[in-house]
Amino acid sequence: MLKGKHVLLGVTASIAAYKTANLVRLLIKAGAEVQVIMTPSARDFVTPLTLSTLSKKPVYTEYFDGKTGDWNSHIELAEWADIFLIAPLSANSLAKMANGYCDNLLLATYLSARCDVYFAPAMDLEMYRQEIVMENIEKLQSVGNILIPPGKGELASGLEGEGRMEEPEEILKQISVHKSREEDFKGKKILISAGPTREMLDPVRFITNHSSGKMGIALAIEAHKRGAEVTLVHGPINIRIPDFLKKIAVISSAEMHKACLKEFKNADIIIMSAAVSDYTPTKVSDQKIKKSEDKLTLEFKKTTDILNDLGSKKEANQFLVGFALETENEVENAFKKLDSKNLDMIVLNSLRDEGAGFGKDTNLIKILDKSKKVTEFSLKVKQEVAVDILNHIVKAVV
Ligand code: CTP
Repeated sequence: MLKGKHVLLGVTASIAAYKTANLVRLLIKAGAEVQVIMTPSARDFVTPLTLSTLSKKPVYTEYFDGKTGDWNSHIELAEWADIFLIAPLSANSLAKMANGYCDNLLLATYLSARCDVYFAPAMDLEMYRQEIVMENIEKLQSVGNILIPPGKGELASGLEGEGRMEEPEEILKQISVHKSREEDFKGKKILISAGPTREMLDPVRFITNHSSGKMGIALAIEAHKRGAEVTLVHGPINIRIPDFLKKIAVISSAEMHKACLKEFKNADIIIMSAAVSDYTPTKVSDQKIKKSEDKLTLEFKKTTDILNDLGSKKEANQFLVGFALETENEVENAFKKLDSKNLDMIVLNSLRDEGAGFGKDTNLIKILDKSKKVTEFSLKVKQEVAVDILNHIVKAVV
């Protein structure tokens, strides 16, 4: 996978930088051409001489080299690269990348890069656990950068836990696996629904649910990265959807139904991860409902079950995936939904599982197939859950 590839290795200031000597060796052994760039403080952790000897190229840190008078162009470096691997990535450089800073050569090159960017964070476990750090990691993932998650083990501080940069062998393995998956949905059209719907009661009030849309967006980004032509139909959500995705914004379940029906005919794979409202008010008041009586009774009617409707219209060459959120008899109820809605696969998440469900960054799923097989997965961030779901689909479809 790496033979003949131009790998730009960005090294930032972390004790894990000592592992980059081995990383460069392994990349060269795998047939890659390696160019190292470092942040100025990274030089305190590993010497440019070591990395330049191993990579057989000068190591760049500054825009302008005072000794040789050379100008190191971040644009040229970014254009040269087939793969930009940033390892180790410190919390500081991560925060700068997530916010568009470019006060050194490495960061300016990152902002100029159009190739796949892989990043391998390295920090102490308390830092890694911080919500702000998680948000920054997610931000990079949301623009299509690929996380190489840190491993668990003894840290430089002497503490045990998560935060240790992944071992060089494992980094190479993850890049190779990712590269091999790159085109596995090529030529496939995928329709994904995401987020909640909003059912209006009057001009200022509505009923909705806690869905953030994160799972559906993670699926859409991953499918796009793997060569699919993705259409994302989404309800009102507060998170940014990358520009490279074709998206259709809707508000109500009726609008979502209409948009999904229109896109359904052209889709090979349909994944309905939206949390659609099951009921909508029978009457939407033209005016704001006034506070008059002590009690207020509202009447609701059932919405169309979009997934069920698509299941009844499904052609033999289409693959339909539903989600099920259950609070009791999870597997049994999810199998019932798979049968009654004529699905090929259903992704089950339970609200009883800690770390899974609405608004969370992580999810704990089981995948149920038509053949009655149940595959269980461990608790993962939604981006990795999306990888598991698409890996499962690819085996059945492609
Ligand atoms: N779904 C849908 N349209 C609806 C309701 C649900 O397309 N009006 C889809 C969801 O996108 C999800 C699946 O149906 O893929 C299951 O949703 P879930 O809320 O778990 O179950 P329901 O079928 O609504 O049944 P219940 O609420 O009784 O569990």
